[in-house]
Amino acid sequence: MRQGITDNHHSESTGNTTALNSVQKAAIELGINLEALPSHIAIIMDGNGRWAKKRGFARLLGHREGYKTLRSILLAASELGVKYLTVYAFSAENWRRPEDEVAGLMKLIETAARDELRAMHQNNVRVCVAGRKEQIPLGLRKALEHGIETTKDNTGITFTLAVNYGGRAEIVDAVKSLITENVPAEQITEDLISQHLYNPNHPEPDLMIRTAGEMRWSNFLIWQSAYCELFVTEVPWPEFSSKQLLEAVSTFQQRTRKFGAVVE
Ligand code: IPE
Ligand code: IPE
Ligand code: MG
Repeated sequence: MRQGITDNHHSESTGNTTALNSVQKAAIELGINLEALPSHIAIIMDGNGRWAKKRGFARLLGHREGYKTLRSILLAASELGVKYLTVYAFSAENWRRPEDEVAGLMKLIETAARDELRAMHQNNVRVCVAGRKEQIPLGLRKALEHGIETTKDNTGITFTLAVNYGGRAEIVDAVKSLITENVPAEQITEDLISQHLYNPNHPEPDLMIRTAGEMRWSNFLIWQSAYCELFVTEVPWPEFSSKQLLEAVSTFQQRTRKFGAVVE
């Protein structure tokens, strides 16, 4: 059976090798079934500020460390064989933070988007964005649009950066587009609302990870996560590693998803 998994994974990615990569080997050692991975993992990358404060650093330094974590987690998720990774980089509510932190974060995300594009493209990553684009500073918006355009035909992991993202705002925007299209009230269904969200072709997340211990959604993917499994770790985002990613996946595989039904 393990051989079958290997063949499957690699016939999609490289087409000719049957060797497992190091992340897959570590996963198997933890008892993870590579055939039953969550297709879509969403992450609330929290705790950068607290991580920095604890060390006497400026908050922005925590965000820089968080960027390094993201780079390695994207690679790990991709190597593991996860199809969709969506991360919360800046919420619609994060504008409430001090001006210098907001400016620093925008700059950091822009630099990251530019610096990582080549590597992501080489790794067959497809980049997407979720959030209200109009309020994103022009430089960052352009960098994101360039990333989306460059990688749109890639067939590896779909990596979605949630920037200026709010779950309620996303639902409001979906309702607005339904009204603009003159859809009659009796035709409104859950599926139709889903089809009007920012990335209608992405599957809903199966697993949502939150770092740094808070037990809340903070307005992230609130429509899509109705039945997604939650995994909260005390580890702050700058310290999160592929080890914790695998722990989350392993926990996910031990859960029984019921979707409201009775499951024996
Ligand atoms: C998450 O870390 C990153 C963003 C919200 C941009 P925080 O900055 O929220 O870190 P804490 O919660 O203050 O520790
Ligand atoms: C959620 O974290 C937003 C991001 C991780 C980008 P916050 O730190 O903003 O959430 P709250 O304020 O603790 O709810
Ligand atoms: Mg926080």
